[in-house]
Amino acid sequence: MASSVIVGTQWGDEGKGKIIDIMAKKADLVIRSSGGNNAGHTVVHGDEVYKLHLLPSGILYPKTTCLIGSGVVVDPKVLLGEISEMNKRGVTCDNLRIDSRADIIMPWHRELDRLEEEFKAKQTGVNVGTTGRGIGPCYTDKARRVGIRMYDLCRPECLKKLVKNTGELNNLMIEKVYGGQPLDLDAIFEEYKAYGEQLAKYEADGSVITFESYNDGKTVLFEGAQATLLDIDFGTYPFVTSSHPIAGGACIGTGVGPKLIDEVIGVGKSYTTRVGNGPFPTELNDDLGDLIRNRGGEFGTTTGRPRRTGWFDAVIMRHAVRVNGLTALAINKFDTLSGIGTLKVCVAYKKSDGTVLKDFPVTLEELADCTPIYEEIEGYDGDLSDCRKFDELPEKCRSYITRLEELCGCPITIIGVGAGNDQVIFR
Ligand code: GDP
Ligand code: IMO
Ligand code: MG
Repeated sequence: MASSVIVGTQWGDEGKGKIIDIMAKKADLVIRSSGGNNAGHTVVHGDEVYKLHLLPSGILYPKTTCLIGSGVVVDPKVLLGEISEMNKRGVTCDNLRIDSRADIIMPWHRELDRLEEEFKAKQTGVNVGTTGRGIGPCYTDKARRVGIRMYDLCRPECLKKLVKNTGELNNLMIEKVYGGQPLDLDAIFEEYKAYGEQLAKYEADGSVITFESYNDGKTVLFEGAQATLLDIDFGTYPFVTSSHPIAGGACIGTGVGPKLIDEVIGVGKSYTTRVGNGPFPTELNDDLGDLIRNRGGEFGTTTGRPRRTGWFDAVIMRHAVRVNGLTALAINKFDTLSGIGTLKVCVAYKKSDGTVLKDFPVTLEELADCTPIYEEIEGYDGDLSDCRKFDELPEKCRSYITRLEELCGCPITIIGVGAGNDQVIFR
């Protein structure tokens, strides 16, 4: 296949970074098309662990061009920090490109993220539980057409005008709406002008790069961030992020048409996790949930928050198969469930009036009325971490995988048995 979209199927942290890194070895171009440094993608090469937030997960391969697409929101300070960290570890990042259209996260976005969360918590008792990186407020500025883009960041005359105008508007929101302290716009201009100077060498037209690469027969990978259930339309709104992490977002956030996509791989875990607030039907608020969290190392890559854990939910996975048009699934972390005893899989939801739902409900009200219908599956034991062929997996593990495939209506072609970039089974 010449181009593949890799998307998260659950609530994020499914191991997308690992899958991208493995596939990037043979790719010519890896593109991040949505989200920002709310993402935390882990890549493990032997003893070396890389936690990437903005840099695409192909960055370790110097011959692979890594593009931050137009749909991404870029915090230049964070990106420069990440580049500098990579430089110290011997990775040049000379293969990085950033689309001129990508919106820039400014200090007022982080401040408004914090203030909005505080306000929501006070007003309704529950906030989104964002990563606090300014993601939502940055996309808000983009949608109301006052955003500062990569192009502007790299041109002091454009930056100066926009820091004044957009900065003033945001300062008014901070001060008059939330009672916060307005930010010093002159100091911000000076600071961001310097970031623009350092990042200017990476500026490019990502749409042209992608289109031409594909037409030249190169291998193109679209690296999803966040996940289907965090999509602003098809996730558990309003407990979602502010972008389109679903497969369609890859085209919008890069500037190419859907005919350029050859396959869509959904990445999931053999169970489910979530960070932040919002519904989670199969959540385990008990010792077993704690056990899975500890065994799976389920602590946020970006914020370090403990991840909520629960059983595999086939209703969610079928939603992901449909919304993304998945052609295959990559399911990680089968090693984590080994030895925990009988497994449960949610096959459908039951409403209080007895109705059985096979499809993920549209509204949170309907979802709140749902309880999972579980199927019990015999658990498996043994160390899976050295298995490299499907036949090497314990028989009961293979049965679990086969049952998940039947329930999701999609083949599981990649099976994760450890965090290392060699700990996968391809079928
Ligand atoms: P991403 O945001 O989807 O890239 O995922 P994260 O990196 O935030 O979280 C996934 C975590 O699981 C990371 O610590 C990975 O190193 C780890 N991981 C990925 N695949 C596997 C697997 O098959 N088994 C185990 N035990 N860990 C895995
Ligand atoms: P990766 O790419 C897990 C969650 C936050 C919060 C909600 C909104 O590593 O899978 P935001 O800061 O985006 O406004 O927060 O979305 N969230 C993630 N959860 N993995 C992620 O990214 C996430 N990115 C955002 O916890 O609930
Ligand atoms: Mg993550």
